Amino acid sequence: MHLQVERVYTLKPQMNELAQRLKKTVDIDKLLCDRIDEGETATNAGLAVSPTMAIMCADDYVRTVQFIRALHSAILDVNQLKPETPAQVLYAGTGPLAILAIPLMFILTEHQAKFTLLDLHQVSIDSVEQIVNALKLNKSINTIEKIDAFNYQVDNNNPPDIIILEIMQACLAKEPQVAVSHRLIKQAPKAILIPQEIKIELIMVDSNNEFEFNGEDKSKMRVRLGSALTINKEQLLAQVNKEKLVLPAIAIQIPKTIPQYLDAKLFTTIKTYKHHVLKEYDSGLTYPRAISCDRDFSLGETLEFNYQVTDQPRLKAHVIN
Ligand SMILES: C[S@@+](CC[C@H](N)C(=O)[O-])C[C@H]1O[C@@H](n2cnc3c(N)ncnc32)[C@H](O)[C@@H]1O
Repeated sequence: MHLQVERVYTLKPQMNELAQRLKKTVDIDKLLCDRIDEGETATNAGLAVSPTMAIMCADDYVRTVQFIRALHSAILDVNQLKPETPAQVLYAGTGPLAILAIPLMFILTEHQAKFTLLDLHQVSIDSVEQIVNALKLNKSINTIEKIDAFNYQVDNNNPPDIIILEIMQACLAKEPQVAVSHRLIKQAPKAILIPQEIKIELIMVDSNNEFEFNGEDKSKMRVRLGSALTINKEQLLAQVNKEKLVLPAIAIQIPKTIPQYLDAKLFTTIKTYKHHVLKEYDSGLTYPRAISCDRDFSLGETLEFNYQVTDQPRLKAHVIN
């Protein structure tokens, strides 16, 4: 399970093997359901996807690589700053495989990193415990806990150095990534947050060629109109005194001068840590999505984007003139 190869798209076989080995370690048939929504939970901060769906995330291998690399790199950075103690990693929403952390427990000692693993679903927690025991990784573990991470209380005597979570979909829709990140980072404001930044950009595209893939296609007609939402530690901490997270609205005007045939799409970019980035189309998390707007809009009009932090989180737009 040693991750040696550097280039991300060449890592598919290794990542498949990693997922297969983890799945073999647990009784995968007991975990998988025919319907991917079976076992999901609606929480006050958004949808916690089912264990079956969470296992499928492992197939999104570029995503997995960039999150593992981010965590590895962040742990080494913390080790440099605090060489006497292991980096404390809080991993919220492990799914049944805890795939963003388990590989690192093989290449880092318990003196370099200790992990606290959380998930809302008992099935996932049982599975992670099984993997940790079977692979004899207990020395790297603080606790493995079934809990809604939104309600998790950080131990002030031993706060996390790194908080990692991937509880999201493209455009930060449906799942509670933002609300849970806010709750955790405000308890441990010095921690490194992974992903470091999630940006949602409004781009006008030509739908006739945008979705055709001919290798690295530089000929796509796009007009970038700006960021509709940026989530990072600074942005979340700016809201630290508010019990309820309210993010600032962002207005973007659609220029009158651009071609009429272009369609407005939202593109998600995820900087997991430093230079480790998931760009458009790298992952299911970075596929472009349509805008959810209160009405049809025309060139020259201005859209205001508001991220709703509710039990159904989503980025909503409305026309303001
Ligand atoms: C998209 S899956 C990702 C699984 C795994 N981390 C991975 O990267 O493959 C999200 C996981 O987060 C868990 N989850 C969602 N909301 C949660 C919450 N509020 N507290 C704890 N776990 C949560 C779900 O149960 C699910 O296992």
